[in-house]
Amino acid sequence: MASLAGAGLQFHTIAHHTSVSEDARAAVLANPGFGTHFTDHMVTIEWTDGRGWHDAVIGPRQPIALDPAAAVLHYAQEIFEGLKAYKQTDASIALFRPEANAARFNQSAQRLAMPELPEAVFVEAVEKLVQIDRAWIPDGEGASLYLRPFMIATEAFLGVRPAKQYKFIVIASPAGYYFKSGAPAVSIWVSDYTRAAPGGTGAAKCGGNYAASLVPQAEAIARGHDQVVFLDAAEHKWIEELGGMNLYFVFDDGTLLTPSLTGTILPGITRDSLLTLAREEGLKVEESRYSLDQWRADAGSGKLVETFACGTAAVVTPIGKVTGRDGEFTIGSGGSGQLTQKLKAKLVAIQRGDAQDKHGWIRKIS
Ligand code: PLP
Ligand code: COI
Repeated sequence: MASLAGAGLQFHTIAHHTSVSEDARAAVLANPGFGTHFTDHMVTIEWTDGRGWHDAVIGPRQPIALDPAAAVLHYAQEIFEGLKAYKQTDASIALFRPEANAARFNQSAQRLAMPELPEAVFVEAVEKLVQIDRAWIPDGEGASLYLRPFMIATEAFLGVRPAKQYKFIVIASPAGYYFKSGAPAVSIWVSDYTRAAPGGTGAAKCGGNYAASLVPQAEAIARGHDQVVFLDAAEHKWIEELGGMNLYFVFDDGTLLTPSLTGTILPGITRDSLLTLAREEGLKVEESRYSLDQWRADAGSGKLVETFACGTAAVVTPIGKVTGRDGEFTIGSGGSGQLTQKLKAKLVAIQRGDAQDKHGWIRKIS
């Protein structure tokens, strides 16, 4: 039991002996995939109006009981985060920028009219889950323990207003590569659908945004592509982001461009980390608007040499081909580019503890 700074709470731990054999776990860790296997424990913390956060428990991972009138089931009052714990080369365990996820979680909470969770509590909850389930962290290139903190409105009430009761939960899932194909670059489909409009919830990490992305994503898959790219809602012209990743464009003079955070794009922590790393490399990085027409023209003329997607799940993933209603274009050679590989290597080296952590991004777990 340890105190939760800022919340006056203590975690209660309910020991749970795994029902999974060592051999079965080893088989999962050897080939974890993404999001299909889960660890033995979960964290839950309750919030009620007037009482605030209480009953912090680390217990066996199990189904949660919800009243059929629970607000989350009707009005989608839900937010989540995604971050990873890495087994470092020296066998220690570390989280990458968990404080940044905690801060974004609270920004999402504000937008969805939910209570904020003290950042120290968010980080401690994640740390405690990693500690207790450390046997589930896979080793090796591209492998990590993916952590999914989330909050749901649990109050049984059908009126449309912010709920007065919530549950914060953290679950964990051993993870490998997000994209199954293993291809050197992914192909993307330019959607006619809109992900987020000005004044909407695009900058928040709420489940509703992802529900709305499922039809466009399914359309991309049906057409033989890996992911969908969304354009802005007003003009259907400016490139925003993928369903679950931000974008970077690389030009032949070594300049990088990433769409600016207009309020409709999720402010990615990987995006932000790469901005810092690229500037440190002496590269010129621009945050601005970039249109689909310009992307196509620049890819055609050779001015644009690389494009990559970035995010916690996808890390840094090159984009080789882009298809939309107006046809298809290839970026560079259609594979992975040099700067994409260089930036990915820099980021992964920090996450793995192979490079100096100059920015205080690594949080070691004992
Ligand atoms: N954009 C969207 C819509 C996402 O879901 C994600 C993933 O979390 C990202 C971008 C990348 O964010 P991050 O780098 O913080 O994982
Ligand atoms: C993440 O990268 O953490 C996300 O939440 C994206 C999702 C597509 C898995």
